[in-house]
Amino acid sequence: MDYMDLKLPNHLGIIMDGNGRWATSRGLSRSEGHREGARNLKSLLSYIFDKGIFCVSLYAFSTENNKRDKKEVDYLMKLFMKLFKEEFSFLKDLDVKVVFSGRIHFLPSDVWSAASFLEEETKMCKSGILNICLNYGGQYEIVDMVKKISLDVMEGRIMASDITKEVVLENLYQNLPPLDFVIRTSGEKRTSNFMIYQAAYAEYYFPETYFPDFSEKEFDLAILEYNKRKRRFGGN
Ligand code: FPP
Repeated sequence: MDYMDLKLPNHLGIIMDGNGRWATSRGLSRSEGHREGARNLKSLLSYIFDKGIFCVSLYAFSTENNKRDKKEVDYLMKLFMKLFKEEFSFLKDLDVKVVFSGRIHFLPSDVWSAASFLEEETKMCKSGILNICLNYGGQYEIVDMVKKISLDVMEGRIMASDITKEVVLENLYQNLPPLDFVIRTSGEKRTSNFMIYQAAYAEYYFPETYFPDFSEKEFDLAILEYNKRKRRFGGN
């Protein structure tokens, strides 16, 4: 598809839902669904950054995902580790800086260190940002921000009366531009605690397709839909 005259979101969010259902509908294990999701993600990210989108946030693992079967959580942790250590180097070639959001220090230390490795590897990249939400919850992000600002107030670095939206932003996990467009695959129409502060004025799109099948063509359709939306930010 020709992207020449299309408006692109500056910050795109993707809630990669439906890996499990994709797999069970084929008689495969849920883990195989995640493996296919990861395979799809790699090619989709190359396509998205190539089209000129600057910032992408991914919902990879929520704080609530820890309640899943141990076998599935263990598989996901191994998958993340492998991706960060061995398979996401293409992001550096695309000049994309990788950052993480979430309570990452509660994850197994080898996942945490693989994430830090990728962050370190790409920290000089300037053409794009990939924000990976890992062990992430939007409400916890707000709780953690309140704790940080409270400490600054208590220790005299800022006065409570000087707290603004900018101060709040600076104290979230990452200081990113506002989300413009959020895609949640698999037909579920919920926001599920994903970047709730940053998505205040985002447009949402809920395609039926399960994430492993969410192809470049499907992404083109999403962008066409984004171009039909009239964003008013509360004005007329
Ligand atoms: C939701 O599908 C998906 C996840 C919890 C994991 C997403 C992870 C990947 C795509 C792997 C690679 C990602 C990164 C960023 C390294 P689900 O299991 O909830 O599906 P279901 O609703 O059909 O059960």
